[in-house]
Amino acid sequence: MLEVRRQIRRRGSLGKSILSPLAVEAGSPLHMVSETAESGFTRDNGILSCDGVSLEGIADAVGTPVYVYSIAAIESQYRRLDAALGGIPHRLHYSVKASSNLAILNRLRMCGAGVDIVSGGEMYRAQAAGFSGSDIVFSGVGKTEREMKEALTLGVLMINVESEDELDVLDRVAGEVGKKAPVALRVNPEVMVDTPHPYTQTGVKGMKFGIPFDETLVVAGRALRMNNIELVGLDMHVGSQISQFEPYEIGLGRLLQLKIDIERAGARSLRYLDIGGGLAVSYDSEHPIDVMEFGRVVTRLVAPTGLKVLVEPGRFLVGNAGILLTRVLYRKRSGGKEFIIVDAGMNDLIRPSHYNAYHRIEGVRSTAGRVTADIVGPICESGDFLGLERVVDDVPPGELIAVLSAGAYGFVMASNYNSRPRIPEVIVDNGRYGVVTERETYSDLVRKERLAPEWRKVQ
Ligand code: LLP
Repeated sequence: MLEVRRQIRRRGSLGKSILSPLAVEAGSPLHMVSETAESGFTRDNGILSCDGVSLEGIADAVGTPVYVYSIAAIESQYRRLDAALGGIPHRLHYSVKASSNLAILNRLRMCGAGVDIVSGGEMYRAQAAGFSGSDIVFSGVGKTEREMKEALTLGVLMINVESEDELDVLDRVAGEVGKKAPVALRVNPEVMVDTPHPYTQTGVKGMKFGIPFDETLVVAGRALRMNNIELVGLDMHVGSQISQFEPYEIGLGRLLQLKIDIERAGARSLRYLDIGGGLAVSYDSEHPIDVMEFGRVVTRLVAPTGLKVLVEPGRFLVGNAGILLTRVLYRKRSGGKEFIIVDAGMNDLIRPSHYNAYHRIEGVRSTAGRVTADIVGPICESGDFLGLERVVDDVPPGELIAVLSAGAYGFVMASNYNSRPRIPEVIVDNGRYGVVTERETYSDLVRKERLAPEWRKVQ
């Protein structure tokens, strides 16, 4: 536990984007959330609500823990980014992995979004939410033949290929299905990025993602000679939670140079430039990406090429628009420290424990007093925390706590660890709320299990 704390302090003092939670909370105004109305979560008379809908009311009706999302906030982020790229042909392909609930997918589809998927499961979800093949970009470093077949049969817009081996398999599978596979080569742009945690870097040299930059031209040459491949684009993804333009600018520059080289080698069909996702949001007082400036940078570089830009934002669209609502079970002091024990654990939101990620934590009812405490869950692990040594509202048992900016990589990374049923998801829209994922039951936990197997012999 001590080591965990030391690591957090170390990372906090090193990283530009991750601020020391202690330093920030001590110096920042209380309840900054009320200043970021674009999250949808605001405070009236000291009580946090979602677009005017009472969180206490939702918790009473649906129970806790529960994820709550503001549809208005998601749509507003979509419109901001869409407008920033308004000067060039473009489409936002929402990265389904960030939050894959059907209702959220459906609302983004109605805004005009396409999707970026990374598995057959996400392809299934996208279809269930009303997307058609041409709305779908299929990314991912380890696609199976089955997934390739499904994607080709559905007629996806393009498949982002990440290695020469994958290209060979896709060429064969496309031949078997009798289709020409629309392919973008995912290039590792090999740019340095400043992400809060090494696990969210992807476009750095030596990572498993993408085709190494200096090999791409050779792979493109092979793709051009394949019978069942049509090379339609180039793709990159520099990382996640990125608030600087430089990685995009440098990466895009590299992609555009490659485009020229690949066209010299005979390509005539390059239409798309997929610049990935990664746009940062503000978890605390860090700067989110300046969307308009991002739009200007991309537009300046891409406009002369006539290519259509695809962007794969995940966190940017949903990150600030969701919270994890949890109830305080107990308070206790131990070893001179204060603990707030809540009913949500690392199985519900793994980001704090997995990435040392910082999420603001506030009482739904703000309290006059503040307390320095560890906010921990019921899981039998010392790593089960939502925040450590945090200066927070002095919330008593029975009252609600909101873990903010939990809309991205929250519910989707939840597990059943400790045999805890996964929690519900609720959307708020137009003064109403609706449950879009029901709370799992105990019987759901064992639904796919057998007391004893049907024994078989290997032939
Ligand atoms: N496109 C590709 C190819 C990706 O790999 C990702 C995210 C995205 C788009 C969307 O990135 P975003 O816009 O959301 O940053 N679980 C981690 C984040 C992992 C991101 C994985 N790839 C977290 O909780 O911070």
